[in-house]
Amino acid sequence: MRAVGREVDAGPRARYLGEAMNLYSVLTWLHVVGNVFWIGAICGVGLLLTSSIGDAKTRGELAQRLYLRVAVPGFVISFLLGMGRLLGDMTFFKFPWMHAKLLFAFIIIALHHVVGAKAKKMAKGEVTEPGKVGVLTAAIAVLAVAVVFFVIVKVPMPSK
Ligand code: HEM
Repeated sequence: MRAVGREVDAGPRARYLGEAMNLYSVLTWLHVVGNVFWIGAICGVGLLLTSSIGDAKTRGELAQRLYLRVAVPGFVISFLLGMGRLLGDMTFFKFPWMHAKLLFAFIIIALHHVVGAKAKKMAKGEVTEPGKVGVLTAAIAVLAVAVVFFVIVKVPMPSK
């Protein structure tokens, strides 16, 4: 830290950090943290439900625990901060890549709820088979890869 006249210059590193840590970068950072836990956990829920370890009720109970303790909080954090980021900068709606990203993200949200409902039913002993959970989990994983592609590579861009 250097005194410049009567002002205190915090130095280039501190200045950079001050500019980089704005509201939008913090929202995006924590949105992505939420995604890491959410998508990882919901895929884990699917893997547990479709495994052959133990009996169906035990698998359901383990899957429901992972769903409620990690997948749901991760989803809530991702969703609220992602929406905050989106609504804080309406220019995102101009970009076709954002429309593609949001479409796929909303399909993931719907599938997340279907997989979670199956975990609840298996945990209660109401069903013993995972049904389509295997294919739905694979779809979640593929859609998540596509979502990250759109938001990082940012194609398609608007045609002038
Ligand atoms: C729940 C609905 C979602 C909304 C409303 C949302 C919204 C947003 C917005 C507005 C940004 C900022 C984009 C930018 O700065 O260029 C963002 C960034 C990002 N989102 Fe989402 N998102 C959602 C779901 C997801 C999902 C499901 C994933 C991946 C599994 C994801 C992955 C990312 C990544 C990796 C970034 C960082 C991109 C960057 O800054 O370069 N999002 N999201």
